[in-house]
Amino acid sequence: MTPVGPRPSDGRLFAGRIADGSMEALDSGVAEASRRWLVCRWDFAESRRRPAMHVLVAYASRHGATQGIAERIAETLQAAGIDAEARPAASVKKLAEYDAFVIGSAAYMFHWLKDAAGFVRRNRGALAAKPVWLFSSGPLGGPTDAQGRDQKVAAIPKDIVELAEAVHARDHRVFFGAYDRAGKPIGFAERFVSLMPAAKEAMPAGDFRDWSEIEAWAGEIARDLGLVSPAEVRPGSTPTR
Ligand SMILES: Cc1cc2nc3c(=O)[nH]c(=O)nc-3n(C[C@H](O)[C@H](O)[C@H](O)COP(=O)(O)O)c2cc1C
Repeated sequence: MTPVGPRPSDGRLFAGRIADGSMEALDSGVAEASRRWLVCRWDFAESRRRPAMHVLVAYASRHGATQGIAERIAETLQAAGIDAEARPAASVKKLAEYDAFVIGSAAYMFHWLKDAAGFVRRNRGALAAKPVWLFSSGPLGGPTDAQGRDQKVAAIPKDIVELAEAVHARDHRVFFGAYDRAGKPIGFAERFVSLMPAAKEAMPAGDFRDWSEIEAWAGEIARDLGLVSPAEVRPGSTPTR
């Protein structure tokens, strides 16, 4: 085996070892070990800075608009390195496996749907022990209604104060929703509204969801969870949080 020692200043004395390739092998071995050590250190620092969070985005949706918002929130969290999944609130049984919750519902007749409100009320104790964010999907059309009121403020469901207090929610947001007049109405209120000519003005059909606003909010949640987006995480860069 070739002796390992300090590289002599006179290259000629080392010519034999260099010639038989063992010095190159040694150099590449050291380089590989250094690389692995650096990767290990980076992984360790990463794992300490970015604990594996498991976030549930639970939603209640009649016609799919709110489901779409929940899915986009989960995708945005995933892009920030968070293990997030969107599921209907009615299908969630175990909460212990999640570290944080984003819960949303479509607003109908100024209230959250029963599946979402019931989920919060039933699990208020478990939810209050973890970070929780709430959102509602509702207003349709432009920023103000016929009376000039801010649609997002007017659309805040009546049960939000109670629900947000019950789980110490960090934030509640109202997002514009979507309404397809050609869709099959579900329930008495929807059938009634679909027959009323005045409803056409109050509830314009269309998809008014603002995806960049929804993604920005999900980004805030990711940052609140103490994480940064993968784009910000590069070897040699200074972590922002
Ligand atoms: C009968 C009916 C009642 C509604 N009531 C409200 C309401 O009280 N507040 C609101 O902001 N939006 C209301 N909307 C609009 C819906 O909340 C909006 O279309 C929502 O995005 C639908 O979500 P989903 O597709 O997930 O069910 C109503 C829509 C219908 C058809």
